[in-house]
Amino acid sequence: MRTVARAHDLRALVDDARAIGSRVGFVPTMGYFHAGHRSLMRAARAENDFVVVSLFVNPLQFGPTEDLSAYPSDLDRDSAAAEAEGVDVLFTPTTEEIYPRPIVTTVHVDGLTNGLCGRSRPTHFDGVTTVVAKLFSMVGPCRAYFGRKDAQQLAVVRRMAEDLDLPVEVIGCPLVREPDGLAMSSRNAYLEPDDRRAAAILSRALHEAAAEVANGERDADSVHRVLTGLIATEPRVQLDYAEVVDAHDLTPVTKITGDVLVAVAANVGRGRLIDNMTVSVGPHSVDVDLGVVARETERV
Ligand code: PAJ
Repeated sequence: MRTVARAHDLRALVDDARAIGSRVGFVPTMGYFHAGHRSLMRAARAENDFVVVSLFVNPLQFGPTEDLSAYPSDLDRDSAAAEAEGVDVLFTPTTEEIYPRPIVTTVHVDGLTNGLCGRSRPTHFDGVTTVVAKLFSMVGPCRAYFGRKDAQQLAVVRRMAEDLDLPVEVIGCPLVREPDGLAMSSRNAYLEPDDRRAAAILSRALHEAAAEVANGERDADSVHRVLTGLIATEPRVQLDYAEVVDAHDLTPVTKITGDVLVAVAANVGRGRLIDNMTVSVGPHSVDVDLGVVARETERV
């Protein structure tokens, strides 16, 4: 594995790989790897000849009161994990490398960013799309892997790539969970033991909501009540939102038909946690995508 901090060096390595016909897989991250990140690297490794992972804690996507300075990091451990997943290039730019001067050009995806996390983090998605557009430009034509843990981010990035004709195929990968169901997140590192235990209510509530739909419930308000009622039983978990939205355009639904995203966000201790599931209601059956539990060997 090569570790490079300059965009120029990254471009040279990826151009060389493409010049000999390699297909490039790209996994953008903010580091502090867990099994969720590693599952993206593994998918990229399995489907491409040359794998690039970027590790950059992007200040532009953090609000003024958010956790930028406290965001966890461990470059040695992350390098070892990326190497173990067969990554070819780890790109670890400085903030100056990505933003050498104040940025006056940003990318805004309208509509999809209005609800869910966009409501409580109004500048967040512009920060994400701007940095991802820059990273896509540095890496060039590739397949890029994103987790369904951040379902809104995935929808927003996919739409950006389509609208701007970027030469990138955006691929969504399963949400990876801890054994008790908690969605893996670098931010779980912030949780005190009591908060960590309480946080499992988010995925339990999603499970219950999924069971309601599987049993025939089609009223979004009823599903919402199940979610909020259960989450309210954990006083350590301060709900930000629980929403039932169309899985494609992310607009709220009243009746559950087709593909629906059920998404929650909550503050627990110092951490802001998100979780979701996708429910697909077909004519004869209901499919629920709750993600996968990381195998013992993958937990870090
Ligand atoms: P980060 O939070 O580090 O996540 C990097 C990628 O890992 C994202 O695609 C995210 O959806 C995925 N991921 C995180 N937790 C996951 C889990 N439990 N299961 C599956 N995938 C998971 O998302 C970002 O960084 C940034 O916004 C970024 C896209 C890098 C732009 O700065």
